[in-house]
Amino acid sequence: MTSFTRASVPTAVYTLPGRYFTDHAIFAAELRRIFGERWVCVGRSEQVAEPGQYVLVDLAGESLILVRDQDGTLHAHFNVCRHRGTRMCEGSAGRFGETIQCPYHAWTYALDGRLLTARHMQDTPGFQKADWPLQSAAVAEWEGFVFVCLAERPEPFEEAFALLIGRFAAWGVGGLRRGAAITYEVAANWKLIVQNYSECYHCPLIHPALVELSPWQSGRNDLSEGPFLGGYMELNHASMTVGGATARPPIGTLAGEELRRVYYYAIFPNLLLSLHPDYVMAHTLWPTDVGHTRVVCEWYFEPSAMAAPGFDPSDAVAFWDLTNRQDWHVCELSQQGVSSRAYAPGPYAQAEGLLWQFDQEYLRALEG
Ligand code: FES
Ligand SMILES: [Fe+2]
Repeated sequence: MTSFTRASVPTAVYTLPGRYFTDHAIFAAELRRIFGERWVCVGRSEQVAEPGQYVLVDLAGESLILVRDQDGTLHAHFNVCRHRGTRMCEGSAGRFGETIQCPYHAWTYALDGRLLTARHMQDTPGFQKADWPLQSAAVAEWEGFVFVCLAERPEPFEEAFALLIGRFAAWGVGGLRRGAAITYEVAANWKLIVQNYSECYHCPLIHPALVELSPWQSGRNDLSEGPFLGGYMELNHASMTVGGATARPPIGTLAGEELRRVYYYAIFPNLLLSLHPDYVMAHTLWPTDVGHTRVVCEWYFEPSAMAAPGFDPSDAVAFWDLTNRQDWHVCELSQQGVSSRAYAPGPYAQAEGLLWQFDQEYLRALEG
């Protein structure tokens, strides 16, 4: 949603060739190289706040059990029994007792992944329980978001996210709680959704209500290359809500100009983070096919605001639900067009510098 009001690309640059939006082999490579190797946002810490609480995460063709152990440490175990590989857990979310048990032959694991019991295996030559813990992916928590990295040698999260760590402290994002969520099924490639989010060139046409609240050419980008792209737009009302007003006090410790801006960031590859004066919205993108993306949109508020009598997030939710649907529709039209034999890369506008930067980061990640 971020706009760009000055030259942002060095020379004439063009959109990606159509195969990047239609080719199943490229989509498979994206799952392997990007969703299978980068740090990917998979949810919020509050979904797995308590020991034993779990959610299943379907990432790059892998099923992961995201679970917090008795010590409070979060794990992302592959949902694969070490005996004969059975998928152990089927429910999309829930709570384990103190263990995870395979339904096939009852091998039983601690929440931290250690194998605790394996029936009648004591006679098996050389068998040691310690040799057969669940396999796990790397996990990190930042600002209340959970990230998973499936790479065999993951880049340390603190290094990969160094530019962002501490950056949003004033919003207190980690202390906010989910007040609403909507899941959308969008018939468009995930990159078209990131690109749609990263420019406001389309706003006067697609979002008449949005440009009433936030002029489309206002603001500046403050992260304009690499895996994190975005900046802010000016608000000429209190917030992005139906009508522009809000009854909620500012979140975190926001002050000064932060109260008159909305900050929008595309966090590679799948998190779109929108920071408002009185709430935060996040989209996570889950590519399910080359031409299809599941988009989970969530709205986070101060727990004190949520506990206040009459708390009603619908002013923020309805505003963005309308905006989301306007965006998904035009993304679906884009998907249809770039699938045509007549499509050829077109020239980016100066207001679309971040899209070209996203393409560069994407190509580095895919082919680098
Ligand atoms: S496959 Fe899990 S206990 Fe046998
Ligand atoms: Fe839009």
